[in-house]
Amino acid sequence: MDVRRLQHSLLVVLVVFLPVFCGAVDGAAAGGGPDEALLALLLRVQSEALRALGPRGFDPKLYVDMPLAAAAADPGAAAAALPLPAPSRGELEAFLARYLAPAGSDLVAADPPDLDPAPRGFLPGVENGEARAWALQVHALWRNLTRRVAPGVAAQPGRHTLLPLPRTAVVPGSGYRELYYWDSYWIVRGLLVSKMYDTAREVVLNLLYLVEKYGFVLNGARSYYTNRRLESSTTVAASHHF
Ligand SMILES: *[C@@H]1O[C@H](CO)[C@@H](O)[C@H](O)[C@H]1NC(C)=O
Repeated sequence: MDVRRLQHSLLVVLVVFLPVFCGAVDGAAAGGGPDEALLALLLRVQSEALRALGPRGFDPKLYVDMPLAAAAADPGAAAAALPLPAPSRGELEAFLARYLAPAGSDLVAADPPDLDPAPRGFLPGVENGEARAWALQVHALWRNLTRRVAPGVAAQPGRHTLLPLPRTAVVPGSGYRELYYWDSYWIVRGLLVSKMYDTAREVVLNLLYLVEKYGFVLNGARSYYTNRRLESSTTVAASHHF
């Protein structure tokens, strides 16, 4: 192997793995912060729920998305109230009702102001009446997927795994209650088809907010994604180098 090739290989290794090392350092530096205390509590609730409720229909994401309820002073106080060892189903349900709020309760539905039920120039190539009617039904679903982060999240971020996005978010839906990176690409393309330019701009401004705050777009707008980098950031780094 000649020296140039060796240098090239080393550079590839560095570029591919450097973000991983940096992620590990970021994660270590963040250890013990308010987000970590909440996440530690929610992970414990998640594993107790799996044990008490069983794997059938178990939704692991449900628990890590739950905000602290008003009755909990902080995650540590809530953790102290979780009955030890191995709470029963009833004890766990009582704990959830008192100390945690429902997943998704820190997002509020938002009406996109630029959603026109039948926008001018919508899918001009689709002439079939049934196909157009169906497309307009799909178009109307933007209303179901548009959210704002509740103001309490920015005021008390340590009580939420949800990140305080400043703008209107359009979410993938179902258990994916928050903004996602890769989904946002398709969402923005769909919003442009629907002529919803203002809402598309809001989505992009949220992504830029994440870049400004974390240095890259997170997989999704949750504190538990802040140490996880997508391949794409590595690819971008690589393409700058070669
Ligand atoms: C969208 O929202 C409307 C109005 O709230 C509701 O009737 C409809 O079932 C929702 N659609 C889906 C697919 O959730």
